[in-house]
Amino acid sequence: MDEGLKMPQHVAIILDGNGRWARAKGMPRNYGHVQGAKTVETICEEAYRMGIQYLTVYAFSTENWGRPQDEVDALMKLLRNYMKTCLKTAEKNRMCVRVLGEKSRLDKDIRVRIQELEEATKDNDGLHFQIAINYGGRDEIVRAARKMAEAAAAGRLRPEDITEDIVDSFLDTAGMPEPDLLIRTCNEQRISNFLLWQLAYTEFYVTPVPWPDFTKEELIKAVEAYNHRDRKHGGLKAQ
Ligand code: IPE
Ligand code: IPE
Ligand code: MG
Repeated sequence: MDEGLKMPQHVAIILDGNGRWARAKGMPRNYGHVQGAKTVETICEEAYRMGIQYLTVYAFSTENWGRPQDEVDALMKLLRNYMKTCLKTAEKNRMCVRVLGEKSRLDKDIRVRIQELEEATKDNDGLHFQIAINYGGRDEIVRAARKMAEAAAAGRLRPEDITEDIVDSFLDTAGMPEPDLLIRTCNEQRISNFLLWQLAYTEFYVTPVPWPDFTKEELIKAVEAYNHRDRKHGGLKAQ
């Protein structure tokens, strides 16, 4: 890796292609998801070693409920297990974990695990790791609008005081810097309802590599490409 590389402070990833990766191997889609979960763990470690401070991954979208029930069940089972292992690895790597998304639709035991994980890691000073589960950018904005309306109705917020910073503070990502770099694997070139507000000036990098094959080397390539961008605004919040 080039020592002079400027590290993006916050990298967001739309991990994609688990199903296609498995199909190419003549395996069921779920095999791709299992492998993809392992890639998440490796990339967390590598990202932190490289000096990235915030990593956000899109694990399950509000649209993903529309997949066949057995696939949804398999993904939920993986997330359940992931929360358990994450509790151990987070300690080891001093990782501070936060889950983005609407949690009430998740099974009770998953919600409990999320709460344990967030609570146990909240003071860790290592990688800030965000996992988006039952997350949709539009849903996040709707939930924020509701919370603002409630605050206004209760007399705690005046409409004329609503600014971009105030809206920001009602989002799931409150307090975080916005992503500098968004990576999407397996060649798709769309946002798929991810971080609609936060990606306003984020640089995009698309790679043909499917997520289960994504490695540290691929991450470095993305950061190198980012270094060659003539960045506009450098992130709106940094203005
Ligand atoms: C990404 O892989 C994982 C999730 C969205 C949960 P996909 O499951 O979307 O894989 P493809 O895009 O069908 O290959
Ligand atoms: C986006 O991937 C959602 C996640 C990575 C969780 P999808 O594979 O679900 O997105 P679309 O359906 O191709 O837009
Ligand atoms: Mg996909």
